[in-house]
Amino acid sequence: MHKDISEILVSEKEIQIICDKLGKQITHDYKDKSPILVGLLKGCMPFMSDLSKKIELKVDIAYMSVSSYHGGISSSGDVKIKMDLDIPITNRNVIIVEDIVDTGNTIVTIVELLMHRGAKSVEIVTLLDKPEGRLKPYVPKYVGRTIPKEFVVGYGLDYDEYYRNLPYVGILNPKVYTKKESA
Ligand code: PRP
Ligand code: MN
Ligand code: MG
Repeated sequence: MHKDISEILVSEKEIQIICDKLGKQITHDYKDKSPILVGLLKGCMPFMSDLSKKIELKVDIAYMSVSSYHGGISSSGDVKIKMDLDIPITNRNVIIVEDIVDTGNTIVTIVELLMHRGAKSVEIVTLLDKPEGRLKPYVPKYVGRTIPKEFVVGYGLDYDEYYRNLPYVGILNPKVYTKKESA
């Protein structure tokens, strides 16, 4: 285990079981449809890779880069689009792929935007859901694991851009950020 991680919350093995389960559900629910998987970079990166392999449908894969945590451990509430989609989504069934829904700022902003652009439907699949963090109400349709209000990193999730490459999701030792956040 990485020295800055105090506890592993979702192991590599559990992540694979989650991807399998969610992939099967989506394959079933979107039978005869060909949805667009829209990954929100950068956090979605490993989840998109593992989950998409478990979806047995004809799918498009596209990305947007959005950010609300400009470093630090709390959402700024200001969701910036740093890179937009490169394909039209008008009349398409969109499935947003996220690593985590926390305050809801990111997902609510992007769902509204894609509906406004004329998507036929917009759902979300998220590896993690932290309902206690919510500032805007949103209930994601496909959830891998519900987690408590802890700051977690790994498998796409970062603190100051680090730890995304850990193969599991773990609780970041508060020692790592308390010094910096109070400085
Ligand atoms: C993180 C995470 C989600 C979002 C969730 O992204 O990947 O996209 O925050 O938090 P929210 O529900 O409070 O909006 P971040 O803005 O850190 O960008 P990143 O994916 O590039 O790390
Ligand atoms: Mn993100
Ligand atoms: Mg981040």
